[in-house]
Amino acid sequence: MTPHLSTVVDQALEAAIRAPSPHNSQPWRFAVDGDRIEVWLDRDRVLTVADPEAHQARLSCGAALLNLVVSLRCQGFEPEVRLVPDPAEPDLLALVTHDGNHHVLAQDRALAEAIFRRHTHRRPFLDRQMPPGLLAPLAAAANQEGARLRFVGTEYARVTTLVRRAEFLQAHNTAFQAETAQWTRRQAASPDGVPLGAAGPPPDHDGAVALRESLLNPDLPPRTYEQQPLLAVVLTPEARPGSDVHAGQAMQRVLLTATSLTMATSFVSQPFEVASTRAGITELFREHGRPHTLLRIGYGYSAASPTSRRPVGDIVVPAKKAESTGRSS
Ligand SMILES: Cc1cc2nc3c(=O)[nH]c(=O)nc-3n(C[C@H](O)[C@H](O)[C@H](O)COP(=O)(O)O)c2cc1C
Repeated sequence: MTPHLSTVVDQALEAAIRAPSPHNSQPWRFAVDGDRIEVWLDRDRVLTVADPEAHQARLSCGAALLNLVVSLRCQGFEPEVRLVPDPAEPDLLALVTHDGNHHVLAQDRALAEAIFRRHTHRRPFLDRQMPPGLLAPLAAAANQEGARLRFVGTEYARVTTLVRRAEFLQAHNTAFQAETAQWTRRQAASPDGVPLGAAGPPPDHDGAVALRESLLNPDLPPRTYEQQPLLAVVLTPEARPGSDVHAGQAMQRVLLTATSLTMATSFVSQPFEVASTRAGITELFREHGRPHTLLRIGYGYSAASPTSRRPVGDIVVPAKKAESTGRSS
Protein backbone atom coordinates (compact mmCIF):
# COMPACT_ATOMS: atom_id res chain seq x y z
CA MET A 1 0.00 0.00 0.00
CA THR A 2 1.33 3.44 -0.88
CA PRO A 3 1.98 5.36 2.34
CA HIS A 4 0.20 8.65 2.80
CA LEU A 5 2.58 11.56 2.14
CA SER A 6 2.04 14.99 3.60
CA THR A 7 2.49 17.91 1.23
CA VAL A 8 5.72 18.88 2.98
CA VAL A 9 7.23 15.42 2.70
CA ASP A 10 5.93 15.07 -0.83
CA GLN A 11 7.69 18.27 -1.86
CA ALA A 12 10.86 17.23 -0.07
CA LEU A 13 10.86 13.89 -1.91
CA GLU A 14 10.28 15.63 -5.25
CA ALA A 15 13.40 17.66 -4.46
CA ALA A 16 15.37 14.60 -3.30
CA ILE A 17 14.89 12.71 -6.55
CA ARG A 18 16.31 15.59 -8.62
CA ALA A 19 19.75 14.59 -7.28
CA PRO A 20 22.35 13.46 -9.80
CA SER A 21 23.25 9.77 -10.03
CA PRO A 22 25.56 7.76 -12.31
CA HIS A 23 23.75 7.29 -15.64
CA ASN A 24 20.63 8.62 -13.92
CA SER A 25 20.25 5.23 -12.22
CA GLN A 26 18.45 6.80 -9.20
CA PRO A 27 19.72 4.21 -6.70
CA TRP A 28 17.58 5.35 -3.79
CA ARG A 29 14.43 4.56 -1.89
CA PHE A 30 12.71 6.35 0.94
CA ALA A 31 10.56 5.01 3.76
CA VAL A 32 8.22 7.55 5.28
CA ASP A 33 6.64 7.16 8.69
CA GLY A 34 5.03 10.33 10.03
CA ASP A 35 7.75 12.92 10.56
CA ARG A 36 10.52 10.39 9.90
CA ILE A 37 12.09 9.73 6.50
CA GLU A 38 14.60 6.95 5.94
CA VAL A 39 17.00 7.05 3.01
CA TRP A 40 17.83 3.62 1.60
CA LEU A 41 20.28 2.48 -1.04
CA ASP A 42 18.47 0.56 -3.80
CA ARG A 43 20.91 -2.30 -4.55
CA ASP A 44 19.01 -3.27 -7.69
CA ARG A 45 20.02 0.06 -9.24
CA VAL A 46 23.73 0.01 -8.46
CA LEU A 47 25.95 -0.16 -11.56
CA THR A 48 27.58 -3.52 -10.93
CA VAL A 49 30.52 -3.02 -13.32
CA ALA A 50 31.31 0.69 -12.91
CA ASP A 51 30.44 0.85 -9.23
CA PRO A 52 30.73 -2.65 -7.71
CA GLU A 53 31.09 -1.36 -4.16
CA ALA A 54 28.26 1.14 -4.57
CA HIS A 55 30.46 4.15 -3.73
CA GLN A 56 28.90 6.33 -6.42
CA ALA A 57 25.42 5.07 -5.59
CA ARG A 58 25.89 6.11 -1.96
CA LEU A 59 27.24 9.49 -3.11
CA SER A 60 24.01 9.92 -5.07
CA CYS A 61 21.93 8.99 -2.01
CA GLY A 62 23.91 11.60 -0.05
CA ALA A 63 23.01 14.15 -2.74
CA ALA A 64 19.34 13.16 -2.51
CA LEU A 65 19.57 13.51 1.29
CA LEU A 66 20.96 17.04 0.96
CA ASN A 67 18.14 18.00 -1.43
CA LEU A 68 15.64 16.59 1.08
CA VAL A 69 17.13 18.66 3.88
CA VAL A 70 17.30 21.84 1.77
CA SER A 71 13.66 21.42 0.77
CA LEU A 72 12.50 20.83 4.36
CA ARG A 73 14.40 23.92 5.52
CA CYS A 74 12.94 26.01 2.75
CA GLN A 75 9.49 24.86 3.89
CA GLY A 76 10.23 26.10 7.43
CA PHE A 77 11.19 22.82 9.12
CA GLU A 78 14.45 22.13 10.92
CA PRO A 79 15.51 18.63 9.92
CA GLU A 80 17.65 16.46 12.12
CA VAL A 81 19.83 14.11 10.09
CA ARG A 82 21.49 10.99 11.34
CA LEU A 83 23.80 8.98 9.09
CA VAL A 84 23.39 5.38 10.15
CA PRO A 85 26.19 3.11 9.05
CA ASP A 86 24.70 -0.03 10.62
CA PRO A 87 26.42 -3.33 9.72
CA ALA A 88 23.13 -5.15 10.38
CA GLU A 89 21.28 -2.94 7.88
CA PRO A 90 23.96 -1.68 5.46
CA ASP A 91 21.51 -0.24 2.93
CA LEU A 92 19.78 2.05 5.41
CA LEU A 93 21.89 5.18 4.99
CA ALA A 94 20.23 8.01 6.88
CA LEU A 95 17.31 9.00 9.07
CA VAL A 96 15.71 12.42 8.83
CA THR A 97 13.18 13.84 11.25
CA HIS A 98 11.71 17.29 10.89
CA ASP A 99 10.01 18.49 14.06
CA GLY A 100 11.41 21.92 14.83
CA ASN A 101 10.79 25.23 13.09
CA HIS A 102 13.36 26.78 10.81
CA HIS A 103 13.54 30.46 10.01
CA VAL A 104 13.86 30.44 6.21
CA LEU A 105 16.86 32.40 4.98
CA ALA A 106 17.66 33.75 1.51
CA GLN A 107 20.37 31.09 1.18
CA ASP A 108 17.80 28.33 1.81
CA ARG A 109 15.63 29.71 -0.97
CA ALA A 110 18.55 30.07 -3.38
CA LEU A 111 19.64 26.46 -2.83
CA ALA A 112 16.10 25.07 -2.97
CA GLU A 113 15.52 26.86 -6.24
CA ALA A 114 18.82 25.55 -7.63
CA ILE A 115 17.68 21.94 -7.06
CA PHE A 116 15.35 22.12 -10.05
CA ARG A 117 17.71 24.18 -12.23
CA ARG A 118 20.86 22.08 -11.75
CA HIS A 119 21.68 19.77 -14.64
CA THR A 120 24.78 17.90 -15.66
CA HIS A 121 26.18 20.13 -18.38
CA ARG A 122 28.00 18.08 -21.03
CA ARG A 123 28.50 20.88 -23.53
CA PRO A 124 31.63 23.02 -23.92
CA PHE A 125 32.27 25.66 -21.28
CA LEU A 126 33.68 29.10 -22.03
CA ASP A 127 37.48 29.01 -22.06
CA ARG A 128 37.56 31.66 -19.36
CA GLN A 129 39.15 31.46 -15.93
CA MET A 130 36.80 31.46 -12.97
CA PRO A 131 37.60 34.36 -10.64
CA PRO A 132 38.77 33.25 -7.15
CA GLY A 133 35.86 35.20 -5.65
CA LEU A 134 33.45 32.76 -7.30
CA LEU A 135 35.38 29.68 -6.24
CA ALA A 136 35.51 30.54 -2.54
CA PRO A 137 31.75 29.96 -2.00
CA LEU A 138 32.09 26.50 -3.57
CA ALA A 139 34.85 25.50 -1.15
CA ALA A 140 32.80 27.01 1.69
CA ALA A 141 29.81 24.89 0.63
CA ALA A 142 31.87 21.69 1.02
CA ASN A 143 33.22 22.91 4.37
CA GLN A 144 29.70 23.61 5.57
CA GLU A 145 29.03 19.88 5.22
CA GLY A 146 32.25 18.98 7.05
CA ALA A 147 34.03 18.04 3.81
CA ARG A 148 36.54 19.70 1.45
CA LEU A 149 36.68 20.86 -2.12
CA ARG A 150 40.14 21.00 -3.66
CA PHE A 151 40.58 22.70 -7.02
CA VAL A 152 43.00 20.55 -9.00
CA GLY A 153 46.25 22.46 -9.43
CA THR A 154 49.65 20.84 -9.24
CA GLU A 155 48.04 17.41 -9.65
CA TYR A 156 46.40 18.34 -12.99
CA ALA A 157 48.63 16.30 -15.33
CA ARG A 158 48.46 13.24 -13.08
CA VAL A 159 44.67 13.50 -12.82
CA THR A 160 44.23 13.70 -16.60
CA THR A 161 46.57 10.73 -17.02
CA LEU A 162 44.36 8.73 -14.63
CA VAL A 163 41.24 9.80 -16.57
CA ARG A 164 42.81 8.64 -19.85
CA ARG A 165 44.01 5.39 -18.29
CA ALA A 166 40.54 4.62 -16.90
CA GLU A 167 38.97 5.39 -20.28
CA PHE A 168 41.42 3.09 -22.03
CA LEU A 169 40.67 0.23 -19.63
CA GLN A 170 36.92 0.82 -19.84
CA ALA A 171 37.05 0.88 -23.66
CA HIS A 172 38.50 -2.65 -23.54
CA ASN A 173 36.04 -3.95 -20.94
CA THR A 174 33.03 -5.48 -22.71
CA ALA A 175 31.00 -5.76 -19.48
CA PHE A 176 31.53 -2.03 -18.86
CA GLN A 177 30.54 -1.21 -22.45
CA ALA A 178 27.38 -3.32 -22.17
CA GLU A 179 26.39 -1.67 -18.89
CA THR A 180 26.97 1.80 -20.33
CA ALA A 181 24.95 0.99 -23.47
CA GLN A 182 22.07 -0.16 -21.29
CA TRP A 183 21.82 3.23 -19.51
CA THR A 184 22.71 5.80 -22.17
CA ARG A 185 21.28 7.16 -25.44
CA ARG A 186 17.75 6.62 -24.10
CA GLN A 187 14.55 8.16 -25.43
CA ALA A 188 13.68 11.54 -23.90
CA ALA A 189 10.64 10.04 -22.13
CA SER A 190 12.64 7.31 -20.38
CA PRO A 191 12.10 7.67 -16.60
CA ASP A 192 15.74 6.76 -15.91
CA GLY A 193 19.01 6.54 -17.84
CA VAL A 194 20.59 9.35 -19.86
CA PRO A 195 18.68 10.53 -22.96
CA LEU A 196 20.58 11.40 -26.13
CA GLY A 197 19.43 15.01 -25.70
CA ALA A 198 21.57 15.31 -22.54
CA ALA A 199 24.72 14.17 -24.39
CA GLY A 200 27.34 16.65 -25.55
CA PRO A 201 28.63 17.41 -29.06
CA PRO A 202 31.78 15.57 -30.16
CA PRO A 203 34.95 17.61 -29.52
CA ASP A 204 36.52 19.06 -32.68
CA HIS A 205 39.93 18.00 -31.41
CA ASP A 206 41.31 16.09 -28.44
CA GLY A 207 40.86 18.17 -25.31
CA ALA A 208 42.69 17.74 -22.02
CA VAL A 209 39.80 15.86 -20.45
CA ALA A 210 37.38 14.25 -22.88
CA LEU A 211 33.76 13.55 -22.13
CA ARG A 212 32.84 9.89 -22.22
CA GLU A 213 32.26 8.52 -25.69
CA SER A 214 28.84 7.18 -24.64
CA LEU A 215 27.75 10.65 -23.51
CA LEU A 216 28.55 12.33 -26.82
CA ASN A 217 25.88 12.78 -29.48
CA PRO A 218 27.45 11.90 -32.85
CA ASP A 219 24.61 13.70 -34.67
CA LEU A 220 25.66 17.11 -33.31
CA PRO A 221 28.29 19.19 -35.12
CA PRO A 222 31.70 18.99 -33.38
CA ARG A 223 32.51 21.84 -30.99
CA THR A 224 35.58 23.16 -29.21
CA TYR A 225 35.74 22.30 -25.51
CA GLU A 226 37.71 24.35 -23.00
CA GLN A 227 41.37 23.35 -23.11
CA GLN A 228 41.93 23.00 -19.39
CA PRO A 229 38.61 22.61 -17.60
CA LEU A 230 38.47 23.66 -13.98
CA LEU A 231 38.39 20.41 -11.99
CA ALA A 232 37.60 20.07 -8.31
CA VAL A 233 37.79 17.04 -6.04
CA VAL A 234 35.31 16.44 -3.23
CA LEU A 235 37.11 14.99 -0.20
CA THR A 236 36.11 13.84 3.24
CA PRO A 237 38.62 14.08 6.09
CA GLU A 238 38.80 10.29 6.34
CA ALA A 239 37.36 7.10 4.90
CA ARG A 240 34.95 5.45 7.31
CA PRO A 241 31.47 3.92 7.06
CA GLY A 242 29.13 6.70 6.00
CA SER A 243 31.85 8.73 4.24
CA ASP A 244 30.31 8.23 0.81
CA VAL A 245 26.94 9.58 1.98
CA HIS A 246 28.66 12.45 3.75
CA ALA A 247 30.66 13.23 0.58
CA GLY A 248 27.44 13.12 -1.45
CA GLN A 249 25.87 15.76 0.78
CA ALA A 250 28.92 17.99 0.31
CA MET A 251 29.06 17.33 -3.44
CA GLN A 252 25.42 18.34 -3.80
CA ARG A 253 25.84 21.51 -1.73
CA VAL A 254 28.74 22.44 -4.03
CA LEU A 255 26.66 21.71 -7.15
CA LEU A 256 23.66 23.68 -5.88
CA THR A 257 25.86 26.59 -4.82
CA ALA A 258 27.51 26.61 -8.26
CA THR A 259 24.08 26.55 -9.93
CA SER A 260 22.84 29.40 -7.74
CA LEU A 261 25.90 31.40 -8.87
CA THR A 262 25.09 30.62 -12.55
CA MET A 263 28.00 28.23 -12.99
CA ALA A 264 27.63 25.01 -14.97
CA THR A 265 28.85 21.65 -13.68
CA SER A 266 29.47 18.12 -14.83
CA PHE A 267 31.36 15.04 -13.62
CA VAL A 268 34.58 13.31 -14.63
CA SER A 269 34.15 10.01 -12.79
CA GLN A 270 36.20 7.69 -14.96
CA PRO A 271 39.14 7.31 -12.53
CA PHE A 272 36.76 6.32 -9.70
CA GLU A 273 35.32 3.44 -11.75
CA VAL A 274 38.41 1.28 -12.29
CA ALA A 275 40.13 -0.29 -9.27
CA SER A 276 43.68 0.67 -10.28
CA THR A 277 42.90 4.30 -11.18
CA ARG A 278 40.70 4.64 -8.10
CA ALA A 279 43.72 3.58 -6.05
CA GLY A 280 45.83 6.08 -8.03
CA ILE A 281 43.53 9.02 -7.36
CA THR A 282 43.16 8.04 -3.69
CA GLU A 283 46.95 8.04 -3.37
CA LEU A 284 47.33 11.32 -5.26
CA PHE A 285 45.08 13.24 -2.83
CA ARG A 286 45.93 11.26 0.30
CA GLU A 287 47.38 14.24 2.17
CA HIS A 288 44.12 16.18 1.66
CA GLY A 289 41.71 13.42 2.69
CA ARG A 290 39.68 10.77 0.89
CA PRO A 291 38.70 11.78 -2.68
CA HIS A 292 35.17 10.81 -3.76
CA THR A 293 34.39 12.48 -7.03
CA LEU A 294 35.77 14.89 -9.60
CA LEU A 295 33.67 17.82 -10.81
CA ARG A 296 34.10 20.01 -13.91
CA ILE A 297 33.00 23.58 -13.24
CA GLY A 298 32.68 26.54 -15.59
CA TYR A 299 30.47 28.86 -17.56
CA GLY A 300 28.13 26.97 -19.86
CA TYR A 301 26.59 28.90 -22.73
CA SER A 302 23.71 26.65 -23.68
CA ALA A 303 21.30 24.86 -21.42
CA ALA A 304 21.48 21.08 -21.09
CA SER A 305 18.30 19.08 -21.58
CA PRO A 306 16.83 17.91 -18.29
CA THR A 307 16.75 14.20 -17.54
CA SER A 308 13.60 12.50 -16.25
CA ARG A 309 13.03 10.82 -12.91
CA ARG A 310 10.83 7.94 -11.80
CA PRO A 311 7.71 9.18 -10.01
CA VAL A 312 8.03 9.64 -6.23
CA GLY A 313 5.37 6.98 -5.69
CA ASP A 314 7.71 4.39 -7.23
CA ILE A 315 10.57 5.06 -4.81
CA VAL A 316 8.72 5.18 -1.51
CA VAL A 317 8.80 1.83 0.24
CA PRO A 318 6.21 0.87 2.86
CA ALA A 319 6.75 2.29 6.35
CA LYS A 320 7.06 -1.21 7.85
CA LYS A 321 10.75 -0.94 6.87
CA ALA A 322 10.95 1.92 9.36
CA GLU A 323 9.47 -0.25 12.10
CA SER A 324 11.86 -3.13 11.50
CA THR A 325 14.89 -0.85 11.90
CA GLY A 326 13.77 0.61 15.21
CA ARG A 327 13.09 4.14 16.33
CA SER A 328 15.84 6.71 16.53
CA SER A 329 17.59 6.69 19.86
C1 LIG B 1 28.65 9.99 -8.60
C2 LIG B 1 28.26 10.47 -9.98
C3 LIG B 1 29.10 10.23 -11.06
C4 LIG B 1 28.76 10.72 -12.33
N1 LIG B 1 29.65 10.54 -13.36
C5 LIG B 1 29.40 11.09 -14.57
C6 LIG B 1 30.38 11.07 -15.61
O1 LIG B 1 31.48 10.54 -15.44
N2 LIG B 1 30.09 11.67 -16.79
C7 LIG B 1 28.90 12.32 -16.99
O2 LIG B 1 28.70 12.87 -18.07
N3 LIG B 1 27.95 12.36 -16.03
C8 LIG B 1 28.19 11.78 -14.82
N4 LIG B 1 27.25 11.87 -13.82
C9 LIG B 1 26.03 12.62 -14.06
C10 LIG B 1 24.81 11.74 -14.27
O3 LIG B 1 24.86 11.11 -15.51
C11 LIG B 1 23.57 12.62 -14.12
O4 LIG B 1 23.51 13.05 -12.78
C12 LIG B 1 22.27 11.92 -14.45
O5 LIG B 1 22.22 11.58 -15.81
C13 LIG B 1 21.07 12.82 -14.12
O6 LIG B 1 21.14 14.01 -14.85
P1 LIG B 1 21.23 15.44 -14.17
O7 LIG B 1 22.50 15.47 -13.34
O8 LIG B 1 21.29 16.38 -15.32
O9 LIG B 1 20.02 15.62 -13.31
C14 LIG B 1 27.55 11.39 -12.53
C15 LIG B 1 26.69 11.61 -11.45
C16 LIG B 1 27.05 11.16 -10.18
C17 LIG B 1 26.15 11.44 -9.01
